[in-house]
Amino acid sequence: MEQVVNKVFVAKVEELPENLGRTVHAGGLELAIFKLADGDVRVIENRCPHKGGVLAEGMVSGEHVFCPMHDWKISVKDGKVQDPDTGCVNTYEVEVEKGSVYIYIPE
Ligand code: FES
Repeated sequence: MEQVVNKVFVAKVEELPENLGRTVHAGGLELAIFKLADGDVRVIENRCPHKGGVLAEGMVSGEHVFCPMHDWKISVKDGKVQDPDTGCVNTYEVEVEKGSVYIYIPE
């Protein structure tokens, strides 16, 4: 059976500060959205797999965000926690269309 996927608006690109996360709610999820220095927009789950730190409030460096609570380093591209810590967060497929950011959320 084909999986149903919803396309959900999350933000306007022009409203996103570069290299600073922002918390958004879409499709019943709490998400962290990041516009990287290269203009790439990424959306991940907003809670750190360690103890639930809010990732949108973390420092961004390159393609990683540092959790504001205990500094775990997490890729905003694939959601993987970097060594020496382990784990991952969900990532969402992003599409930018006429200045609006949409993500695809499986039902
Ligand atoms: S809650 Fe994120 S590093 Fe501890």
